[in-house]
Amino acid sequence: MTICSAPGKVFLFGEHAVVYGKRAIACAIDLRTMVEVTHNSKGIRIHSAFKDEPDKNQYIKTAIKKMQQYADIKNVNITVTSKIPVASGLGSSAAVTVATLGALNEEFQVGLRKEELALLGYQTELEVQGAASPTDTFVSTMGGTVVVPDKKILPPITCGIVVGHTGISKSTARMVSRVKTLKERYPEVVDGIMDSIGDISARGEDLIKRNDYRSIGELMNVNQGLLDALGVTIPELSLQIYAARQHGAYGAKITGAGGGGCMVALCDEKNAKEIATAIGHAYGDSFISRPTAEGVFIR
Ligand code: MEV
Repeated sequence: MTICSAPGKVFLFGEHAVVYGKRAIACAIDLRTMVEVTHNSKGIRIHSAFKDEPDKNQYIKTAIKKMQQYADIKNVNITVTSKIPVASGLGSSAAVTVATLGALNEEFQVGLRKEELALLGYQTELEVQGAASPTDTFVSTMGGTVVVPDKKILPPITCGIVVGHTGISKSTARMVSRVKTLKERYPEVVDGIMDSIGDISARGEDLIKRNDYRSIGELMNVNQGLLDALGVTIPELSLQIYAARQHGAYGAKITGAGGGGCMVALCDEKNAKEIATAIGHAYGDSFISRPTAEGVFIR
C-alpha cells in the first residue's frame, strides 16, 4: 500500500501568457490531494473524493495509462481525498494527477525521478484538457516557488497569502479558448499584452529572490489589469480583489484561468485575517493559506 500527496498552487504572475511560452511564477500552497494505492483482484477501481466532478476521474485514468507504459498495473484500488477546491484555479487537477503518478511510481517501483513525473503530469493534463502549460504539474511535483517554462525553483515566499474563492466554477479549457480567439482577432494588440505579462514575471523573479513583497504586490496589480484586458475577470472576482487591496494587501489578482474560481492576495502576515474577512464580506469565501516547499511526497 502506498499513500502519496501533492499540493495545490497559486499563480503569482503569468497565467494565460504561459500558454504562449511566456514566463510565469507559481507558488505551492499547503492544501494537498492524497492518493492511496492498494491491491485487489478485481481490476482498476477508482474511489474519488471528487464526486461532483466526474471529470477528475479522467485525469486519474489518464495518469494510470501513462504509468502502464512502465509497469503492469492491473488490479489496484485508487482512493483519492483532497482539500483543494475543484475548478478554482488552485491546481486540483494537477495535484490529483501528480499524486496518482507518484503513488503508482512508488507502489510499482518504477523509479521515475521527480522531473520525469512532472513531465508525465504535464502530458496527462495536455491529453485531458487539449491545452495546458506545464506550470500546475511542475509546481505540484516540486513544491516551493517555481518559474516556468525555465523550470527554476525559487525559495518559498515568506509573506501572508489569502485566497478568495467565488464558488463560481469555470472551465480552464473554455477560458484558454476564449483568450485564443481574442488573440487571433487582434494579434497586434494581444501579443503585446502577453509580452508585458511575461516581462512582469521576469521582474517578479528578481523581486521574489529579494523578498520585496511590496513591489511584487504592485506588479500583481499590473498583471491583474492585463488579465482584465484579456477578458478573464468577472465582477465577483473584482469585488474580492478590490476588498483585499483596500484592506492593505500588497497586491491581489485572480489565480488561474479566471471566469470564476479564486483570487490571491499577498500581505503582511499580521494583516491576513483582516484581509480574509474583507474578501469574504465582499463576495464568496476566503481562507488564509501558507506557501509550502513540499512537492509530491510519499507518506
Ligand atoms: C490555468 O490554471 C492557467 C492557464 O494559464 C492555463 C495553463 O497554464 O495551463 C490559464
